[in-house]
Amino acid sequence: MKITKNDYNLLKNLYPDNLEECLEKIENDYPVQYLIGNVSFYGYPIIVNEDVLIPRFETEYLVEKTIAYIHKLNINKPTILDIGTGSGCIAITLAKELKDAKITALDISKKALAIAKKNIKLNKVLIKIKKVDILNTPIKENYDVIISNPPYIALNEKVDPATKFEPQQALFANDNGLEYYKCIINNLKNIDFKICAFEIGMTQKEALCNYINNTLSNVKIDCQKDYNNKDRYLFIINE
Ligand SMILES: C[S@@+](CC[C@H](N)C(=O)[O-])C[C@H]1O[C@@H](n2cnc3c(N)ncnc32)[C@H](O)[C@@H]1O
Repeated sequence: MKITKNDYNLLKNLYPDNLEECLEKIENDYPVQYLIGNVSFYGYPIIVNEDVLIPRFETEYLVEKTIAYIHKLNINKPTILDIGTGSGCIAITLAKELKDAKITALDISKKALAIAKKNIKLNKVLIKIKKVDILNTPIKENYDVIISNPPYIALNEKVDPATKFEPQQALFANDNGLEYYKCIINNLKNIDFKICAFEIGMTQKEALCNYINNTLSNVKIDCQKDYNNKDRYLFIINE
């Protein structure tokens, strides 16, 4: 794996005595972000380690699109639930960008939530965090916005070798990768919401649209593409 000159200089400062060892790790697919210890997400600093998924560029676009929807639908003081918050990157960005939002972020992983807590403090925002297994705990409160970048890789899918260093619980899902979406969509039957925003795998649009149409009534589905023209974002709008 190639690293940028900037990353190289950062590593040289961080690991003056064992730079060679770091470079060898990177050669063996170890993510440079874990060695540096933080990334920039939507311009905000996010601490990362092996307990959390490294925030991806495409997730910034999910946040951007969701903010645009919140404005379009004139939702004031939105209540927001981020499911599978990991490092907290989505929830923190929303808190920074929507000053009057009331945000709750949940994750099953205690270790991930510890990092999310550090990031919340670092970015000086207020977010309620909860340790919850979404697959086994119904959502009981109403939220204006439910947002999630859940695990969505099918168990048999080929993945980038660097992902073997990330928490596997953050990546893989049963039912061809659809398990978390279906669980969240089923929850939507029982609560009041305005927007549900998902990041999805590029082959999952059709199956998810069918599932939504068979499960929910009076909703509009809006699927949007990423910069590579792949279907990567799904919005369910409660009309
Ligand atoms: C794809 S990662 C997303 C992390 C972060 N939101 C992001 O976009 O970078 C999915 C997250 O879901 C969490 N997760 C996995 N199973 C879960 C469950 N049953 N209940 C709640 N969270 C879960 C993982 O721990 C992980 O942090």
